[in-house]
Parts: sequence; C-alpha cells; structure tokens
Amino acid sequence: MDNIESMNKKIILKRVNIILFLDFTVLALSGLLNRFIPYEIFRFLHPVAGGLMVLLVIMHLYLNWNWVKSNLKPAEKK
Ligand code: HEM
Repeated sequence: MDNIESMNKKIILKRVNIILFLDFTVLALSGLLNRFIPYEIFRFLHPVAGGLMVLLVIMHLYLNWNWVKSNLKPAEKK
C-alpha cells in the first residue's frame, strides 16, 4: 500500500530523474563539444551543469535508498 509520503517521493523522484537526464545531456555535450563552444559559455555552463548533477545524483540515491539497502544485503538463505 502506498501512503502519502511514498507517493510524494515517487512524484519527486520522477521529476529528479527528468531533470537529471536533461542536465546530464547538457553536461556531457558541453564537455565533449567544448572545442566548438565559445569558452565564455563553456566556463559557465559546464561547471554549473556538473555541480547540479552531483546534487541530483545525491537526491536520486536518497530517494532510492530502500532499493540500495535491499540490494546491498547478502542474499537470503533458502
Ligand atoms: C559527462 C561528463 C563530463 C565530461 C565529458 C566532461 C568534459 C570536460 C572537458 C573535456 C573539460 C576540459 C575543457 C577544456 O578546457 O578544454 C572539462 C572541464 C571542466 N569540467 Fe568537466 N566533464 C564532465 C563532467 C564534469 C562534472 C560532473 C563536473 C563538476 C562536478 C565538471 C567540471 C568541470 C570543470 C570545473 C572544468 C573546467 C572548466 C573551465 O575551464 O573553466 N565536469 N570537462
């Protein structure tokens, strides 16, 4: 059964995932194509997208922590 708290978590997780995907796309493209982007833009865009990604990854792990915990546990004996 889903309580309100876990439903809110799911909604937040969905949004975090969408922003994470878009941010990673900007980060990876700006890093890989940096030679073709004016340095003034790269110098701002890339570190901001990078810092944001670190924050979003932490939020993503936090919101999936139950999954992480249950997959770190040793397999149950039969
Ligand atoms: C897909 C992942 C990434 C790729 C492909 C990538 C690629 C690059 C490349 C090629 C440069 C050197 C550009 C140059 O000076 O010619 C660079 C610089 C830099 N990267 Fe990344 N990077 C990635 C992730 C990150 C992340 C996660 C962060 C921060 C948490 C970050 C922060 C920086 C910073 C601060 C610089 C120096 C910017 C400057 O010259 O002022 N990058 N990156």
